[in-house]
Parts: sequence; structure tokens; C-alpha cells
Amino acid sequence: MKSHIASLLEQTIESFKQQGLVPADFQARIQVERTKDKTHGDLATNLAMMLTKVAKKNPRDIAQLIIDNLPASSHVAKVEIAGPGFINFFIDENALANQLQDALNDDTLGVTLPTKQTIVVDYSSPNLAKEMHVGHLRSTIIGDSVVRALEFLGHDVIRQNHVGDWGTQFGMLLAYMEELRAANGEQAELELSDLETFYRAAKVRFDESEEFATRARNLVVSLQSGDEYCNKLWQEFNDISLHHCHEVYERLGVSLTRADVHGESAYNADLEQVVNDLDAKGLLSESNGAKVVFQEEFRTKEGEPLPVIIQKADGGYLYATSDLAAMRYRSNVLKADRALYFVDLRQALHFQQVFKLAKTAGFVREGLSLEHTGFGTMNGPDGRPFKTRSGGVVKLVDLLDEANTRAIELVRSKNPDMDEATLLEIARVVGISSVKYADLSKNRSSDYIFSFEQMLSFEGNTAPYLLYAYTRVAGIFKRAENIDLSQAKIVLEHDKEKELGTKLAQFGEVLTRMTEKGLPHVMCAYVYELASEFSSFYEACPVLAAETEEQKQSRLLLSQLTAKTLKTGLSLLGIETLERM
Ligand code: ARG
Repeated sequence: MKSHIASLLEQTIESFKQQGLVPADFQARIQVERTKDKTHGDLATNLAMMLTKVAKKNPRDIAQLIIDNLPASSHVAKVEIAGPGFINFFIDENALANQLQDALNDDTLGVTLPTKQTIVVDYSSPNLAKEMHVGHLRSTIIGDSVVRALEFLGHDVIRQNHVGDWGTQFGMLLAYMEELRAANGEQAELELSDLETFYRAAKVRFDESEEFATRARNLVVSLQSGDEYCNKLWQEFNDISLHHCHEVYERLGVSLTRADVHGESAYNADLEQVVNDLDAKGLLSESNGAKVVFQEEFRTKEGEPLPVIIQKADGGYLYATSDLAAMRYRSNVLKADRALYFVDLRQALHFQQVFKLAKTAGFVREGLSLEHTGFGTMNGPDGRPFKTRSGGVVKLVDLLDEANTRAIELVRSKNPDMDEATLLEIARVVGISSVKYADLSKNRSSDYIFSFEQMLSFEGNTAPYLLYAYTRVAGIFKRAENIDLSQAKIVLEHDKEKELGTKLAQFGEVLTRMTEKGLPHVMCAYVYELASEFSSFYEACPVLAAETEEQKQSRLLLSQLTAKTLKTGLSLLGIETLERM
């Protein structure tokens, strides 16, 4: 409720700015506090006093102006001015309790659903030439969580796994695959089970043998001109690589399926048309034999024009070319209202350039919102991009294995007598959730330091803390199985009941913020606060030992709604819950 009132006050200040009552650049530090004496309402602010200087009026007059301009809210029963100019808010507990009661009986927790949109989400999108590594973790899990939340709100979500499955490095890989298979079929399959090693070995061959390199280059040409044999070889390679990816997705609990794969190669047939259309619009220039587009607003630090390269001098197309074709497809075939791109922030300039160009060239509908929902780097303890001890890329599978091993230790230390099968299953959930949650709970645009110790701690905003908090709330019902709640009603009397109720009522707002900006950490912060709010409630308000039957039932409902909200929130983050741990 504090943040609800703060947001009402923020809106009021905005309207003051429009009316010229306060300067447009005024930054208010809005403070809303719980009152000590409830005869003064539930919440109070000193905002009027803070505005005396800029608004040049006495505080009580400003307080009155604030009240007159305050947006209506069903949660506010009454507003009063007190003393020198404090504003006191009385929360309407009945409205709040009714809202919670409705949420309890609703699949979408009483959230008001927005107008349905078609939203394309580009995420994960690894390059198939290599094995998935930690660099793909963020895109995969942040994207998947936002996808879940958008679907929860009723949107039509189209997942696009824009895999890198095209390009010159495939010639080298196919040539090596061919060579290995001719020499020793079994060895070939074995090497293909570890794409990292396979790639490195192919590169060695490419660098050491001119004959091999020539064969690789010829294979690319044949592949691109649709040669059947090459295409079959390429298909086989991609199949193996995609199989690796989907093993990781499954393990991570990521909702991508093979049907969502729509990689660079899918746009191959349209690339020539992209070039022709840019040409017809007069947008193409020549630069050292390559076809490029210069856009006024993109320049180097030195002020030199910065082109988007569309076609190389040798006729090859680029990353940007297939992105232009993909945007056209997303706009005109998939009819997207929004297209989100969960891609590393280091590609920010690329997306700014191609988004702008797609609009200028009329490749996308005016109404399509193109959004690069970028993210920072996952770093090691030294603050540099996460690497193995020997400096290599960390394979995602290895990282998940280590998380699992550590989770087994953690769960065992808490439950030395637990049977092995249960323990392993709990540890599996704890391990995966910890890796996912640690990532999701950071603002995606910042870099973060990957730390097993932190993510597997029971303290703070972590998966173990939340999973455990959930088992505690859910546990209350195990002890109350026989109580009939069909006639029960939520009544908010105790302060802590109101606080918890207020938090529970914010689920919808949080979901809106999460989906509008593609920010899962907002949901993480919420479930964490909700869990803490529940702890304080549980400490202050006995549930099963409540004074009256009505009170007990009401508190059980509050616990039930907390469990439901936590479970839903976590599931939208792609985190499984446990009944015990
Ligand atoms: N495959 C690219 C990479 O690994 C990411 C592709 C992102 N999506 C896109 N439409 N460009 O860097």
C-alpha cells in the first residue's frame, strides 16, 4: 500500500508540473510512512512540507491542493490534513479484503488482463556451430520467464529461437564431419557428442590444410546454392547441435520446443529480396565493394559514418541482413504488435541500427514496437567474463552439474536422514532454481558476479530462501486439512494482516511492470518481499491457534492466497516449488 500511495502522490506531482505549480525538473523524494496512532489513519506523508519552497505556498494549502488532485483509488477510504500539513490516508480494508477474496477464487489471481497483443519473443538463439555456453544462459532464462508472464496475461506469444545455423563456419564443420565419418564412423559420432571439441578439431584442420580449407569453402557455396547432399549433411549437423540445446532446455525447465526454432537459415531465400528492396528505396551505398547502408544518426566517436553491412564484396550476407528479413517476417507474417529481443547488451548498437533501418525501409508496420531487452555480462569472481580455470568458455551443462552437486550437499546437511531418491529430487530443483533465480533476481541490464556460495544460501533474496518459505506456508495446510473453508471470509484487522493483504494485492501491478519492460527481477523482489511479509504476519498472528473460528479461517485464507501467489510468481519465473525440503 505504501507504494500504491506513493504512486498516487507521484501522479499528483506530475499534474502539478503540468499545471506549472512546481518546476518540471523538480525531483520529489516522496516519503510515505505507517502511522503510529491509527486514529490518524494508516499511512502519512510529509510531501506538502517538502513542496513549500518550490510551490511558494504554506504547507496546509499545498496539502489541500494535493488532496484535490489525488487520483481516485478504491483502496483509500478517507484522506485528511493533520497538524502543520501532514496528509493522512485511511485504507479501505473492506475493499482490500474483497479484492483478496476474489483473487483466491480466480485462476489469474484477480489480475486485470490487458488488451491482448501478439508478441514475438526472440530468446536463447545460440549459434549451433558450438555448444551452448554460459553466455546463452541469461537470454534463455530471462526470455523464458517474460514469455511465461506474457502468456499468463493472455497475450499471444510467439517464441522465436533465432539460432545461428548459417554462415561460413558451417563449411569447416561439414568438411570435418565428412572426413571423420569416412575414416571412422564411431569416432565421428563420439566427437560430435561434444561440439566444443569438435569445433576446435575442425578449426585445427582448417588452419593446417589448404586442401581442407578449400573443401570447406566449396561446401559453403554448395550449401548456399541448395545442393542436396550438402543440405543433408548440414541438417544432420544441426540436428545433433539442436539436440544438445534441447537437453539443456529440458534440464533448465525452459519452455522452448523444436517448433520454436526459426534460425538464420529460415531467411536465406529472402536475403536477395532484402538487398533489392533496400536498393529500390535508394538506401544502399558501396563501400570497398560491399553493399552498405549509412544512417545519419550512427557515427563513430570520431564522427565517421557507421554503416550497416548488408552484403559483402564476395556476395555473402551478414547477421544484419537476416535480422532485417526476420523483422519483416515478424511484422508482416506473424503480425506482431511487439517484438522483444533478449540479446546481450553488447549488441545494442546492432539492434539500434537495424531497428531504425527496418522502419526507414518500411519493412515493418508503423505500429510494431521493436524492443532490444538486453542484458549485461555474467562475470566470475574476478569481475571478468565467466571462464573456466584454464580460461576456456564454461559449458552450460558443466555449470548445472556443479550446481547440482553443491545442492545435494546443502540438502543433505539439512536432512541427514532423508532417503536418497527424495534427496536427489529436492536437490535437482534447488540446484537448477538457484542458478536461474540468481540470474533473474538481478536487474538484467547490469553485469553480475556469478557465485555458487551466494545463490545456494538460505539467507537473502535467493532460491533456497524462497523455496523454503513456500514449504512453510504450504505446510500450514497440511495441519489444517480438515477445516472447511467454503464459508470463510478474509477480514483484515491486525496491522500485520493488513500489511500482508496490501502486499498480496500488488501482484497485478508487479506483473504489469515485469511484462511492459521485460524485467523478471521485479517479480523476484516481489516474491521475496511477500515471503518476508508473511513471516512477520505469522509471527504476530497465530493461525491455527487464533482467538476465534472466524479469525482462524480468515488467516488460513490469507495463508492460502500467499501460497498461491508465491507459487504463481515463482512459476512465472520458471521456478518449480517443493512441498518439503
Ligand atoms: N546467435 C546470436 C548470438 O549468439 C544471437 C541472435 C539473437 N537474435 C537475433 N535476432 N539477432 O550472438
